[in-house]
Amino acid sequence: MYDLILNNARLYPMNGYASPQSPSCLAVTDGRISAIDEPGEARETVDADGAWLLPGFIDCHTHAVYAGDRSEEHAARLGGASYEEIARSGGGILTTVRAVANASEQELYASALPRLAAFLAEGVTTIEIKSGYGLDAENELKMLRVIRKLDETLPMNVTSTFLGAHTIPGNHSRESYMNLVVDEMLPAVAAENLADAVDIYVENIAFTVADMERLFAAATGHGLKLRAHTEQLSNMGGSARAAELGALSCDHLEYLEEEGVQAMASAANVAVLLPGAYYFLGESRLPPVESLRKHRVPIAVASDLNPGSSPINSLLTCMHMASSLFRLTPEEVLHGVTKNAARALGLADEVGSLDVGKRADFCLWELSSPELLCYQLGGLKPLAVYKDGQRVNHEKAAGN
Ligand code: NIG
Ligand code: FE
Repeated sequence: MYDLILNNARLYPMNGYASPQSPSCLAVTDGRISAIDEPGEARETVDADGAWLLPGFIDCHTHAVYAGDRSEEHAARLGGASYEEIARSGGGILTTVRAVANASEQELYASALPRLAAFLAEGVTTIEIKSGYGLDAENELKMLRVIRKLDETLPMNVTSTFLGAHTIPGNHSRESYMNLVVDEMLPAVAAENLADAVDIYVENIAFTVADMERLFAAATGHGLKLRAHTEQLSNMGGSARAAELGALSCDHLEYLEEEGVQAMASAANVAVLLPGAYYFLGESRLPPVESLRKHRVPIAVASDLNPGSSPINSLLTCMHMASSLFRLTPEEVLHGVTKNAARALGLADEVGSLDVGKRADFCLWELSSPELLCYQLGGLKPLAVYKDGQRVNHEKAAGN
């Protein structure tokens, strides 16, 4: 006897196999997918009435815990200032760092709740959130505790990434700050098991490839997964080195060149594209999508939700942008927020496709075709969202 069976669903499994021609069924036992296309008795039966069944979406790169906003910087940029100039004059990430320092753990948690609720309502069941607006031990740990609490209290998988190496605070040199990150913050984060991964911003306004090597060596010693923000504003060679060192993903990548793509391909590293930041910062240099395809680098797509470069609280919007701005096909985009996003988080065995044994995280969509998810901008909502086999949304669907 299954716990739940969804009958008459059009499965879109995102596991490399084509969708079955006719509606089929999927069963859940103990929060996991236990059978596909094997009808049987269940405690609860749902008639999907021909709706599409897709894995829950995965937003594998966000900075969704923050305080304040940066609308003044947006206005300054519209007046001609660049993201780099604002950062160099003490604004940018440091503006949010000051706001986070003044916010309590409870305030940070309360302000993150509606952001995560908005993602869940559009079918996101797994989300990664980074620290990186603390930049001292107290505030980095505060952010990471908020992220852990979100995971414990919301019907979503929330994974936590320690991004102490986001930028250099005003009271430190790069070297002295890296000492603090590696020798003090990282051991404290690991001791409290507050992070699943580490990340670093490798850029001429932030950290060097050598800093990344040092951080990654220490993080590996603590059993943490590795990620990196690389080649966003210039080509520093960070992606190739991150891939060689075993990073799961390299993120942004507008300035990535063929050599870096090859290194990523050899290491089975995932390219996480962030069209929201490209759009909001008014960038014109596109990530090397053709080269990523040619070398078969798996591509993921994420929202990068943050108050500075991507104040976009919608993965569906970023999916649309990945398709319209980066020219990814709907199939590539859908893999980018399911299977490949799971790989970027090191969770490919758990989530990201409709396969027996995986967590029963999925959504029913009343659409003529899943391709509509990359075509239509706005107004799309899943009919039902299930997390670990439990229905977690109760909204009315909107679609075509
Ligand atoms: O992913 N590039 C660095 N970090 C963030 C931006 C953070 C911010 O501006 O607050 C990003 O774009
Ligand atoms: Fe980011």
